[in-house]
Amino acid sequence: MGKPTKRLNKRTQRPVRGEGTSAVGGRNVSGAGQAKVRRSIADNKFLRAVAILFLPVLLGVFGLIMYPPSFDLSTNNVTNTTKINKSASKESIIHGHGDKRRNDRSTKDKEKQRPSQTTNNKAKTSEMEDFKPTILDSLAIQEIIVDENIVSPVELTKDHPSSPVKIYMFEGLLTERECAGLRRVHQRHLTETNAQHPIICFDSLSTFRRHLRDAGIKDVSVSTSDFTQGTTCINSSFSEELGSSLTWSHSTSFYPAESKFSTIFEDRVFKATGLKQSNGGKFQITSYLEGIGYKTHTDCTLGNHDKRDRYATILVYLQDVEEGGETKFPELGISVTPRKGRAIVWNNMNGGGECEPISIHEAAQVKTGHKFIIQRWYYYKSFSYLGKRAPEPDLPARASDQPRVSCDEYEHGSCRWYDEWNNDHLTEYRALQSGLS
Ligand SMILES: *[C@@H]1O[C@H](CO)[C@@H](O)[C@H](O)[C@H]1NC(C)=O
Ligand SMILES: *[C@@H]1O[C@H](CO)[C@@H](O)[C@H](O)[C@H]1NC(C)=O
Ligand SMILES: *[C@@H]1O[C@H](CO)[C@@H](O)[C@H](O)[C@H]1NC(C)=O
Ligand SMILES: *[C@@H]1O[C@H](CO)[C@@H](O)[C@H](O)[C@H]1NC(C)=O
Repeated sequence: MGKPTKRLNKRTQRPVRGEGTSAVGGRNVSGAGQAKVRRSIADNKFLRAVAILFLPVLLGVFGLIMYPPSFDLSTNNVTNTTKINKSASKESIIHGHGDKRRNDRSTKDKEKQRPSQTTNNKAKTSEMEDFKPTILDSLAIQEIIVDENIVSPVELTKDHPSSPVKIYMFEGLLTERECAGLRRVHQRHLTETNAQHPIICFDSLSTFRRHLRDAGIKDVSVSTSDFTQGTTCINSSFSEELGSSLTWSHSTSFYPAESKFSTIFEDRVFKATGLKQSNGGKFQITSYLEGIGYKTHTDCTLGNHDKRDRYATILVYLQDVEEGGETKFPELGISVTPRKGRAIVWNNMNGGGECEPISIHEAAQVKTGHKFIIQRWYYYKSFSYLGKRAPEPDLPARASDQPRVSCDEYEHGSCRWYDEWNNDHLTEYRALQSGLS
């Protein structure tokens, strides 16, 4: 594979947004400047005498500037560590809220309590309004070291210099051990929940009919009355009846800061791509058996109005696939073959926050083998997204640990099985962590 170009190695492409390395660099520069001033004062005896005489006065004035009696917290030009800590802890509360959604029941209870808590605390609300989201509007791709190996980016969109969507590939972004650990965690999760038949949902009645037809089910005719009221899902017993004839991919999700691995992964992704931890959403491991793929789609909403959308996607293959299972970008004529540890990363949106149709992609059907990937989406705006997750769709009555399958507009297999982890899986995951670090 080719070497990375010099251009790719430059961090300077990253816009300065008051976060990350650029902010640290800024502090270092001003520190060096002060040292120089001090040296030149020391070189001049007269000035040194003046400095000694006036030092207490200077310090007093300096102290007043730094700590004036009425300190305006709204000015961003002053560093007040108390405020920084407050903001940081606010953000972690919001992350925590996201985590709780994993357990449907407890979430619903929490949801009921939350509005009164919020209205009771006007101060908190205004603090949240003042909080500026971290914007993600560019990639900063560079070479990194993983397990003492140099992992270099290769741009796959080199032949499309004017493309607003850039795709890069890294070989060995995850190590063999990490890939094996993630596959094992996912498999274990599937084994444990296999006893449960999922509830099946469709995006429309015509999608439902098409899935039945393609599964060779001719003796069942369906109408909207087969959907449980207020949903586009079929009830538990009907789901069980049809489930054996339909196929889907499987997914296991976990959230930032939930495990040692998530931290390792997001640090590595940040160094290699500039994608900020603060903008990352959930981590999702997905597997596809033979005959399964996922239709062409964009990871952002075409014609999007609000910018809480997925700016970029990173996808890592956790295993080789004998045949099929490629990630294809039809508009760009790019097809990536799954290979263990190989990662691809691309932006779905442009720097202005609009969804780019050219980012459309698909997971080709697996012909032979078993495909495993881990994906993570990075959002254009950090804070809004993390603070306000989309409401869960209404579902028919189901057991607390009953998973759900969602089938979208049909195109060679577009059903996905979801079951976000509950605490048992997390406990299991923590026990396996040693194998992942
Ligand atoms: C902060 O900025 C404002 C407006 O630019 C200025 O008036 C104020 O003096 C600054 N405060 C400090 C402490 O630098
Ligand atoms: C920083 O802000 C807090 C309020 O959040 C205030 O209590 C504290 O006095 C401020 N610190 C300084 C050094 O002014
Ligand atoms: C606030 O953050 C600063 C800088 O990270 C840290 O040194 C300090 O201990 C923190 N204070 C509190 C009360 O958490
Ligand atoms: C579930 O749905 C099927 C198909 O619409 C229906 O025949 C059946 O009565 C439903 N069962 C329950 C328990 O609602």
